[in-house]
Amino acid sequence: MISVEPHLGEQQAHTIRQMIASLDEAYWRDRSRHKPNLGLNGEVGYYFSCGRESFPEVIRLAVDAIEPIIHGYECEDWVVNRTPIGGGMPPHIDNEGYLAVSLLCMQSNSGEFRWYENKDLDKPQFILDKSGQLIRFNQMDLVHSVPSALSERYVIVFLYR
Ligand SMILES: [Fe+2]
Repeated sequence: MISVEPHLGEQQAHTIRQMIASLDEAYWRDRSRHKPNLGLNGEVGYYFSCGRESFPEVIRLAVDAIEPIIHGYECEDWVVNRTPIGGGMPPHIDNEGYLAVSLLCMQSNSGEFRWYENKDLDKPQFILDKSGQLIRFNQMDLVHSVPSALSERYVIVFLYR
């Protein structure tokens, strides 16, 4: 199951995004070099991550406070992915052992999330980035990707068991 719904208002998303975007470069791990999330054919994406534990407390608490509830699951951790213009993720399956994921988009017009019906790369489905929009899925073998970002793209990834 994959679903899309509004989660944060424009202003709230903007405020939290500003806090995250103000962080020094040293907070971000280059995922093309550190724990790359490989594509179906071994390709490497280009984006940066910062995990919950690494954020300054003020940001950690602000994000904890907006954690989306998924009934039947418990949120265990979250991570922010930052994709520079032109960066992205190849089609892949998440294999970090979680049972559900929600993706909170922090701005509009930065690109899109793509998933593939029946894992068929010829059947892409598009969900355009929208500030405050939440994508949820609990089908952990869902093949998905992020095509080349149109502007700097921040997404908070909440991980559930
Ligand atoms: Fe993923």
